[in-house]
Amino acid sequence: MNHSISLTVNGARRDFVLDDPRVTLLDLLRERLHLTGTKKGCDRGQCGACTILVDGKRINSCLALAISHDGADILTIEGLARGDQLHPVQAAFIAHDGFQCGFCTPGQIMSAIGMIREGQAGNDPERVRECMSGNLCRCGAYVGIVDAVLEAQGQMDETNQRRSA
Ligand code: FES
Ligand code: FES
Repeated sequence: MNHSISLTVNGARRDFVLDDPRVTLLDLLRERLHLTGTKKGCDRGQCGACTILVDGKRINSCLALAISHDGADILTIEGLARGDQLHPVQAAFIAHDGFQCGFCTPGQIMSAIGMIREGQAGNDPERVRECMSGNLCRCGAYVGIVDAVLEAQGQMDETNQRRSA
């Protein structure tokens, strides 16, 4: 039996017919939309490489059934930059060497954006480490990742303050 769902992916409405209700958001993004920036590391919720934002909240897309998110608003790494202008978190990862091989990086960046929006970490590196503990980096780029997140968080706070002034 086929199931029809609609998602908004990086600002564009996409319609799908699922012939298997078990397809995950991760597989839908990678195999149907060819948005391969979202990585499949473990496929069982243990590494965070597949992190995306769904309705503004970060989730492991390998654990999310697409059929359960009909109508959702999805943001992936491909939806962050505006032309040549990187998102502040992307720019900060480059400035602080927040990656080596880059495999975990899309998930780290999406998780960082979600965490910043949650307003959980303040300026505390330990809180950043704790709030992003679900995102593993086999290259051990954690020092740069935490520095990048703290810098980007400050920039996003400033931008929000300017917008609300
Ligand atoms: S691929 Fe989803 S948590 Fe590892
Ligand atoms: S940069 Fe290689 S796994 Fe994180």
